[in-house]
Amino acid sequence: MPDNRARYIATAIQVILLGAVTYYGVKWLVDVLDPTKKSRLAAQKQGEQLLKKIGVQGVKLSEYELTVAADIVDPLTLPITWKDIGGLRETIDEVKETVILPIQQKEIFQSSSLLSAPKGVLLYGPPGCGKTMIAKATAKEAGCRFINLQVSSLTDKWYGESQKLAAAVFSLAVKLQPCIIFIDEIDSFLRMRDKTDHEATAMMKAQFMSLWDGLMTDSSCQVIVMGATNRPQDVDRAILRRMPSTFHVGLPNLEQRKEILNIILQGEKVEEDVDFDELAAITEGFSGSGLKEICRVAAMSCVRDFMKARNNSQSSGVKLGDESVKSHLRPIQMNDFIVAVEKSKSNTDFHR
Ligand SMILES: Nc1ncnc2c1ncn2[C@@H]1O[C@H](COP(=O)(O)OP(=O)(O)OP(=O)(O)O)[C@@H](O)[C@H]1O
Ligand SMILES: [Mg+2]
Repeated sequence: MPDNRARYIATAIQVILLGAVTYYGVKWLVDVLDPTKKSRLAAQKQGEQLLKKIGVQGVKLSEYELTVAADIVDPLTLPITWKDIGGLRETIDEVKETVILPIQQKEIFQSSSLLSAPKGVLLYGPPGCGKTMIAKATAKEAGCRFINLQVSSLTDKWYGESQKLAAAVFSLAVKLQPCIIFIDEIDSFLRMRDKTDHEATAMMKAQFMSLWDGLMTDSSCQVIVMGATNRPQDVDRAILRRMPSTFHVGLPNLEQRKEILNIILQGEKVEEDVDFDELAAITEGFSGSGLKEICRVAAMSCVRDFMKARNNSQSSGVKLGDESVKSHLRPIQMNDFIVAVEKSKSNTDFHR
């Protein structure tokens, strides 16, 4: 009898050991074969560091929330302020009133359910006109936490993981509130749902929407989803409904172009003969980034001339990168701009 008992115990131990070895063996194999593990761990580490940097302490975060935390941006490090954005004063004022004021003056807006901040804001308009700039300046001005959501951080090859990450976006934002979740090029992430969507993608979109609804039902919650797109027609209708505040950031008009040119060229060496009115007039149809490009091309003419002159004079000995180089560059002239505009126009509408 005691022999049998000993045999039972020995077999049980063998089974337990075999089970443990199999479990840890499979776990090890899955970890080794999982190509996303390394990047996930790196993201979590980055998330922890970022949280520390922006002064978030004592907040317990799940593994998924830490992965999403890698997309947090420290608003103080954002290089853009309202002053860097030209010609969009009215839009900026509206954004301040709709998004920033409810965050900063919470008590006024809590007095009525009608006054609470919109849970979704959409910036739309042609490319290169300042949508991303406005979003960044908003985060800086509002001084709130800003999650610059990268869609790639939500995708995981394991079934169901993407949904958990989507849920983590919202739970993290609630823990960090006041917080803006910014989704640039939102059309690529939350585009029209169709039958060809992969099941996991469709489920993630559906979950995203229901989590978003969760925000809407809690009027005291200070989390705003801010999207930017130049293809609003491609964004899912159900998503558009969740972004009732929309701001059109269109191509700049004459006055706006003049303002943008002034901002781009402030601090640059520009000849006195440069007529900003004329420059604004000949750049009709150009976006803010198109204007920046012609200014860059015009400034390059000065560098080209400098290089030519340097090559011609053997005695010069000034090296590019020296402090003195800037003083040797001639100012940008009106003709440089005109040539740059002509060149841009002849290159079809590509860069406008
Ligand atoms: N209103 C503006 N004032 C000053 N600079 C501008 C303005 N609009 C655009 N720019 C210049 O163009 C660049 C691109 O702007 P931004 O990234 O905000 O465009 P966007 O509207 O987000 O474009 P896209 O739809 O392609 O993402 C800026 O970095 C800036 O140099
Ligand atoms: Mg953009």
